Amino acid sequence: MSFLKLEGLSLRVGTLPILRDVSLQVEPAEVRALVGESGAGKSMIGKAILGTLPDAVDVTSGSIYLDGEDLMTLAAKDRRRLIGSKAALIPQDPLTALNPARRVGPQISNRLVDILGWRRQDALRRVIELLHEVHIPAPERVMRAYPHELSGGMRQRILIASAFAAEPRLIVADEPTTALDVTVQKKILRLDPGYAAPPRHSTVVCYP
Ligand SMILES: Nc1ncnc2c1ncn2[C@@H]1O[C@H](COP(=O)(O)OP(=O)(O)O)[C@@H](O)[C@H]1O
Ligand SMILES: [Mg+2]
Repeated sequence: MSFLKLEGLSLRVGTLPILRDVSLQVEPAEVRALVGESGAGKSMIGKAILGTLPDAVDVTSGSIYLDGEDLMTLAAKDRRRLIGSKAALIPQDPLTALNPARRVGPQISNRLVDILGWRRQDALRRVIELLHEVHIPAPERVMRAYPHELSGGMRQRILIASAFAAEPRLIVADEPTTALDVTVQKKILRLDPGYAAPPRHSTVVCYP
């Protein structure tokens, strides 16, 4: 079975259809692009996969299988843990996706603690390792910094590191073109060898 499989997914907000009968399969290590104009529903597909649909959105039909598990039939907590351990988002706007009021290290490591049940010390050690991998100098100091103390490029790399923290097998990159520089884009999509990304992950990338 495909690593990710959407079958006949339809979403509505009230009576307004948002997605109609969307099917999609992604194999291990495959890169898939979702292309469409603004408002077409690309981000909604990403949110459906990651279990982060807004409350106003109803799933009216369809199923989503992630690594063979039917997400719709899982209890919310199990679904969150499953998705958190297998998939991650590179957000549409990496520059505002960090909470300005909190130090960057705990923002990344808490996700590993909360969703995956890692020990706090292990999570912090992993984050330092990840910051090394995306070539951030003095990671221990950067972990204690607030987002505004870091350059845009640093924050970009921190969010990418954070997406890869639990070695996800699926990355959803929502319009990376809008906020990432070309070098980083190439690296995410593995057009450029030798990046921190694990070599076997699948990618769904949304393009306007
Ligand atoms: N939080 C929301 N509540 C209700 N409708 C929304 C919400 N976010 C987006 N929409 C609607 O869902 C549709 C698809 O949006 P979206 O997936 O963001 O499009 P895209 O990413 O392709 O630009 C749009 O018509 C948009 O107006
Ligand atoms: Mg979008």
